[in-house]
Amino acid sequence: MSDFYTSLCAQARALTQDEPDLVANLSNISALLNLCLPDLNWVGFYLRRSPEILVLGPFQGKPACLRIPLGQGVCGTAAASGQVQRVANVHEFAGHIACDAASNAEIVLPIFAQGQVMAVLDIDSPSLNRFSAEDEAGLSELVKLLENLDWSQASCSQLGAPSL
Ligand code: SME
Repeated sequence: MSDFYTSLCAQARALTQDEPDLVANLSNISALLNLCLPDLNWVGFYLRRSPEILVLGPFQGKPACLRIPLGQGVCGTAAASGQVQRVANVHEFAGHIACDAASNAEIVLPIFAQGQVMAVLDIDSPSLNRFSAEDEAGLSELVKLLENLDWSQASCSQLGAPSL
């Protein structure tokens, strides 16, 4: 992993290690990403509040769509498949949901806990092809750290079997 992401993960660990509250931690992580990652216009979380719906969580950027059904848009595709979606040009992604007209590229990483997708981390950029394989690797390490947060607070306990 690059020095940049090693440092970012260290800062994320330091910010979250003494705080048990999930919303407080996700809020600070979205602020950290907004501060440290150049060339973004939106960064934040969608939480899987019920088996088939993602609901807007802590974020930085313009007001965004509140609910995304699993399987729809880039976020819903990441949540339904459990796979990172790294999109060079959102205008070529079938079903992309445009919350901010400035967005041209996007990366969405699923966050797993108890074997299920509990949330996604969504990052948008105005620059085409903004997110490299190195970004994906670094952000995947960050997500591993986030997977150790207390996701029982996300009210996902009624999820039951994963629909992956
Ligand atoms: N573009 C996302 C919707 C969320 S906004 O980018 C904040 C999608 O297609 O799922």
